[in-house]
Amino acid sequence: MCGIVGIIGRQPVSYRLVDALKRLEYRGYDSAGVATITGGALQRRRAEGKLVNLETRLKEEPLSGTIGIGHTRWATHGAPTERNAHPHFTDGVAVVHNGIIENFAELKDELAAAGAEFQTDTDTEVIGYLLAKHRREGMNRREAMHAMLKRLRGAYALAILFVDDPSTIMTARNGPPLAIGHGDGEMFLGSDAIALAPFTNEITYLADGDWAVVGRTGAQIFDFDAHPVERPRQTSIAVAYLANKGNHRHFMEKEIYEQPEVTAHALGHYIDFTQNRVDTVSGIDFARIPSLAIAACGTAYLAGLIGKYWFERYARLPVEIDVASEFRYREIPLSPRSAALFISQSGETADTLASLRYCKGLGLKTGAVVNVGDSTIAREADAVFPILAGPEIGVASTKAFTCQLAVLAALAVGAARARGTLSEDEVQALVKSLAEMPRLMGQVLNSIQAEIELLARELSKSHDVLYLGRGTSFPLAMEGALKLKEISYIHAEGYAAGELKHGPIALIDENTPVIVIAPHDRFFDKTVSNMQEVAARGGRIILITDEQGAAASKLDASHTIVLPAVDEIIAPMIFSLPIQLLAYNTAVFMGTDVDQPRNLAKSVTVE
Ligand code: G6P
Repeated sequence: MCGIVGIIGRQPVSYRLVDALKRLEYRGYDSAGVATITGGALQRRRAEGKLVNLETRLKEEPLSGTIGIGHTRWATHGAPTERNAHPHFTDGVAVVHNGIIENFAELKDELAAAGAEFQTDTDTEVIGYLLAKHRREGMNRREAMHAMLKRLRGAYALAILFVDDPSTIMTARNGPPLAIGHGDGEMFLGSDAIALAPFTNEITYLADGDWAVVGRTGAQIFDFDAHPVERPRQTSIAVAYLANKGNHRHFMEKEIYEQPEVTAHALGHYIDFTQNRVDTVSGIDFARIPSLAIAACGTAYLAGLIGKYWFERYARLPVEIDVASEFRYREIPLSPRSAALFISQSGETADTLASLRYCKGLGLKTGAVVNVGDSTIAREADAVFPILAGPEIGVASTKAFTCQLAVLAALAVGAARARGTLSEDEVQALVKSLAEMPRLMGQVLNSIQAEIELLARELSKSHDVLYLGRGTSFPLAMEGALKLKEISYIHAEGYAAGELKHGPIALIDENTPVIVIAPHDRFFDKTVSNMQEVAARGGRIILITDEQGAAASKLDASHTIVLPAVDEIIAPMIFSLPIQLLAYNTAVFMGTDVDQPRNLAKSVTVE
């Protein structure tokens, strides 16, 4: 993870470096630092924790210099201390790095044997020492850069300053993304185009294995074998994504309340509401594939699990799904006639990308269900299915989740139509339900806030919370638990309601709230029986159901949240809302950093 930036400017750059880093803070916020060349020397300011600390540091001790690099860190090797914060300096070289150098231990031993004295616990420091060593051996800067890159194994996006060349930044990419920005007599580089959006919208993306020498008027790009290569210059639309919180306390709250609008956009991309029809989906021939594979991480994985229920039920299409970090190593016997979907908000998650490459290698058709349209996963997949959620800044995913669900629902219905597994009337009925979803979301968001706040106050006193659900409510139960633990740090688990008696029931006592997600669907009676088992053991039940469910349930839940009765296909999206608001309001009561919870990062570009 981590975010990196570089600027060759006409004015002092330190504040613009920090400004760009703020838009990369979603990639990590354990520590931050900037370095410039000023007065013929490398200078840096670093600080533990979030960027505000670095800003304070820079106010106390400003940094001049018109060329500089910066970093915001999600710690992998070495604690998040100032000593381990980037940029790292070695003999006139400054380095910022996103990724992991897998052979760092071997390199460190070799360099230490030759006299290197390492100052940090990071894997990154070997880069500076390798460069310094190659320079001492008589190589020029470019030769040293190329020789150094050849020694690295692992993933990296790098920005490097040499004190003896105050007009150039060297950069390289293998794995994590790297965008070079073209300004007017100024040049920029960053981990994504949004970081550079206030400065320029003219972007060149490095391809994997590329490295570049960026000067004041342009960049020379080389492939891994040091042959000059041309990469296209594109106009980025990232400037449209410069986001603010509006009237909301947190980005997460804003993003929860945006859901009626953004899910409508997402659905509108796939569904012709005037004709009640799912548009033909290009890219994957759902009519012909024997099965579908899905890989994703975190919340995107849970969206995929719900998608599995839909593809199997409506399109009679068997789905193989796993978290991407397992999927890629399981050696699943996948048919090259099958297709695979990769779900990712950022489109950069390392394990999801590796799973995509694995499936491409096996000859499967690949589809990317992504939010960031110019991300690596989007660029490498055969077909792109945008979720159109707009920028999601809160680390805990909300609107990207419901937009992923909206797109997967539309794809599943489209697949059912293509495969002839549903009648035209059945397809029309599902499409009609999907069309109603954004309005119903608005209605729910307007009606449950006060009730949720009261419940959240109670929940904030808990140490453990269980979430239960059946059918598509089971992955939703896991998502509810994930949301709560991510931002409130309360331990929570999501279980299939039927699994309760196979273990988790041992945890039930009067101090463990049990949140039961149970729309009045085919499984309602069974889930109510499971609730009965909880009640019989003194458990405190918070039931999230619909009007029919509330009427049918004879059980005294401590609290019942009643939502409108909706068709099964939209229930996961509608029922996501109380789940998200409950986690959000609990975290607000507890006073945690809702948008940037501890230890997490929004984009995970390490494996
Ligand atoms: C991180 C984030 C999660 C996200 C997961 C997958 O862990 O904190 O919110 O679900 O990565 O990210 P992606 O960008 O691939 O959806």
